[in-house]
Amino acid sequence: MEKVKLGIVGLGRLGREHAANINYNIINAELAAVCSAVPEEVESVMKEMNPGYGTTDYMEMFNDKNLDGIVIASNSAFHCKMICDAANAGVKNIYCEKPLGMTLEEIDLIKETVEKNNMNIFQIGYNRRFDQALMSMKEKIDAGFIGKPILIKLVNRDPEWNREALLKFSPTSGGLVFDMLTHDYDVARWLIGSDAETLYGIGGAYGYEGLAELNDIDNCIISIGFENGVMGYMETSRNATYGYHVEYEVFGTEGSLRLGTTPNKDRVVSMNRNGVTTECVKSFFEFWLPTFEAELQDFVDCIQNGKQPKAGLEDAYKAVQWAFAAKEAVDKRTVVSMK
Ligand SMILES: NC(=O)c1ccc[n+]([C@@H]2O[C@H](COP(=O)([O-])OP(=O)(O)OC[C@H]3O[C@@H](n4cnc5c(N)ncnc54)[C@H](O)[C@@H]3O)[C@@H](O)[C@H]2O)c1
Repeated sequence: MEKVKLGIVGLGRLGREHAANINYNIINAELAAVCSAVPEEVESVMKEMNPGYGTTDYMEMFNDKNLDGIVIASNSAFHCKMICDAANAGVKNIYCEKPLGMTLEEIDLIKETVEKNNMNIFQIGYNRRFDQALMSMKEKIDAGFIGKPILIKLVNRDPEWNREALLKFSPTSGGLVFDMLTHDYDVARWLIGSDAETLYGIGGAYGYEGLAELNDIDNCIISIGFENGVMGYMETSRNATYGYHVEYEVFGTEGSLRLGTTPNKDRVVSMNRNGVTTECVKSFFEFWLPTFEAELQDFVDCIQNGKQPKAGLEDAYKAVQWAFAAKEAVDKRTVVSMK
């Protein structure tokens, strides 16, 4: 079977990882073209991975009819322009990193443009849907293992940030409620199989001086009333001194499913005169590493077999809608209706 030829735009923190997965790990894919606005990044990937060609002009790739699909791993602020440019140039298969866009106007424009151009596959980078444990939880929920779901709980804590780095990152990322919780919005609606009807939130800037002036916060709690009656709450933080920490629980009429209640790095328990310790996972990257390969493997399989992705345009769109409603709920400390 012919390999699926992919071009990738964005070779930064995540894009380089995606390029390496395509090149080394996904056997039915070929890294055919790479692009970055930073020429040194292009040169470095060309030297290490030897793809077909490298460019700093992404339109060269979007106009290349030899490519079967495009992976967009640029900064979130460019997703809208790049998706629309690709779709209008006739690209039929796109994988794009989350979030879909930075404003409600952007996601409307993307939806309209993608639909108008009759694309085959549009996949959004909600990699947690490819985590083995979360997939198992989802299967058990759907099979009725916990009976009727009553409540979902999501915890998402980043390791403590360097203050200067956070103040620099905050304005371009969209902030805690918009950016950091984006995966949780998707996981919540995927596991429960329903959208939010109402969102309420509180939060604040507890740990980083200067963050509030940027209209951002470092901790919050959001409560969710789902359309199907399930209750939910999520808490998030940028102040976990001990490392990276995620937890999920879905509690139902017949039982409960839990994941990640202690963020152990591995199964080693170390004992000496100072006591008993276990190491903690240090970053999101370490915790979710296998999912980055799995989601791109799925994109390639979707192109090859004509199936639809696990997280598509509608999921991408809904998560951004949740993000804006949650932001309003936290900013105004009010209940926001999604209807
Ligand atoms: N799924 C996850 O867990 C996860 C984790 C981290 C980042 N992300 C997402 O991945 C995306 C990239 O994040 P990152 O941390 O890798 O960013 P980064 O800043 O490290 O890299 C961005 C890349 O985009 C390229 N780029 C920007 N504008 C361009 C243009 N006009 N033409 C060509 N290249 C251009 C830059 O040159 C760079 O290579 C973001 O949308 C982010 O939200 C997702």
